[in-house]
Amino acid sequence: MGNEESTVVDDSTRPSVLEARNMEAVAKYIQQHDVKRIVVMVGAGISTSAGIPDFRSPDTGLYANLAFLDLEEPEDVFDISFFRENPKPFYALAKELYPGRYRPTVAHSFIKLLYDKGLLLKHFTQNIDCLERQAGLSGDKIVEAHGSFATQRCIECKTPYPDEEMQKKVHHGEVPHCLVPQCNGLVKPDIVFFGEALPESFFRSRDLPEQADLCIVMGTSLSVQPFASLPSFCREGVPRVLINMQRVGGLGSRPDDVLLLGDCDVGVRKFAKAMGWEEELEALWEQTNPDPKAREAENAPLQSRDERLRDEVDRLTEDIERTLGLTDAYQQRVRERLGEPSKQGQSNGVDSGAGEESTGLDHVFPHLARKFR
Ligand code: OAD
Repeated sequence: MGNEESTVVDDSTRPSVLEARNMEAVAKYIQQHDVKRIVVMVGAGISTSAGIPDFRSPDTGLYANLAFLDLEEPEDVFDISFFRENPKPFYALAKELYPGRYRPTVAHSFIKLLYDKGLLLKHFTQNIDCLERQAGLSGDKIVEAHGSFATQRCIECKTPYPDEEMQKKVHHGEVPHCLVPQCNGLVKPDIVFFGEALPESFFRSRDLPEQADLCIVMGTSLSVQPFASLPSFCREGVPRVLINMQRVGGLGSRPDDVLLLGDCDVGVRKFAKAMGWEEELEALWEQTNPDPKAREAENAPLQSRDERLRDEVDRLTEDIERTLGLTDAYQQRVRERLGEPSKQGQSNGVDSGAGEESTGLDHVFPHLARKFR
């Protein structure tokens, strides 16, 4: 984090559709080819500048910072079997991550801008923070592939649990139980945990990348399947733009892939500039500002934003420690276990492998599996 400029990686492979492998050529392609079916695929990296930690960044990621909890592996906090045994670590974290505290980022407003211009076919998000909705994006354009905090239900009898009750419980760091007296099962937000199926909306929309005329991937390590395979289902010859700190998921391997390596907000501003949308983007983002006086702080250099994220992660982990009442001796013991192999790269029931045209996902993308045979 902290790059002032995003870097366009322009390797020697000649593009087939674009004039060059850079943003200006992508802008020209959008204007000259009447592009109207853009698919966007995102992960936690588009929300880090709002102060929400991502999962896998080595210092500021949640998994690195949750390692002191009562978890064999930090990913257990989102594991359904673990949750059944011990829901407290999840609810300690939920208190911190619950929607309402954070402002959408410039990257969220950029997606809203694509929508306003009638160019957005679908927005696929792995995020549970609901910031796309807060930025004004219409719900029917969003596929929340890993669910969200918007609704919740009993994990046993599936009875929905009231929103207000949920807000109260989460706010007090308490674990909610089903209100059906003979059930009393654990209640969980409709977030997809490891070991659970993705929502119906994902399966209904899984063929849309194939219809896209442009793909934008932002702020994700593309390490969790089946989401990680989505970019590979865009047709050959359809440009794919990656805006991310690192190169991920085989993006860059096709002749019309364009890589903007660096901060998402810097990358979308570059995109908007190439399209002549700079002012519109800033105006749209300004609408998400609950306190215009905070503008100065928002415009602080990226380095200090990174520091703010670090502070946010520290505050969050301290709060969780307090909520769970962990003793120093206990934390020390768990810290000593650090360094064990992690579950990273495992999927919601499917092995990872974000490479091009990965196999073993026939049950998730049957329409494409048939085609590749
Ligand atoms: P990760 O933490 O795995 O990846 C975030 C990516 O965004 C990394 O490549 C970061 O380098 C990059 N990044 C972070 N901040 C950035 C910034 N400001 N600008 C550009 N890039 C930035 O998060 P996801 O890919 O979203 O699942 O993780 C996928 C899933 O794994 C999550 O949905 C979650 C987790 O387990 C569940 O909880 C079910």
